[in-house]
Amino acid sequence: MQIVILNGPNLNMLGQREPEIYGTETLEDINQWLKTESRMQFQWFQSNSEGELIDLIQKAQIEKSDIVINPGAFTHYSYGLHDALSSHRAAGLFSIECHLSNPAARESFRQNSVISPAVTGTIAGLGKNVYLHALREIKSRRGN
Ligand code: DQA
Repeated sequence: MQIVILNGPNLNMLGQREPEIYGTETLEDINQWLKTESRMQFQWFQSNSEGELIDLIQKAQIEKSDIVINPGAFTHYSYGLHDALSSHRAAGLFSIECHLSNPAARESFRQNSVISPAVTGTIAGLGKNVYLHALREIKSRRGN
């Protein structure tokens, strides 16, 4: 079982970015917490670039890795990410979309995800625990 966790645009600003919505921990704080809490192996990336995220999804497909992805604002309009994730899922791999906040309870533009139809499932609104739940879901699906 190989798992890649991808974080999209502006998530590198966690800690400074609207802490009332996203909390005060940095993305690296969450990475370290997740390693300790999950006791699982995973690769961790962040990119502000749609193309780089697509490259990483394609690489995960080639290497047969499952994906946990917080696509940030790309959630709401990136058909490129949608198509890459559809292809990854069609190859029999799992992908879980995560959001720290609950986009369904926020501005109207956040209420649609173009990513959700392409992934195995979505977890939102539980802060950093969304990553932990996603990892555990993949682990149980892989029978580990
Ligand atoms: C987010 C929600 C998105 O709407 C937003 O653009 C983000 C973060 C979340 O984790 O709650 O960048 O994906």
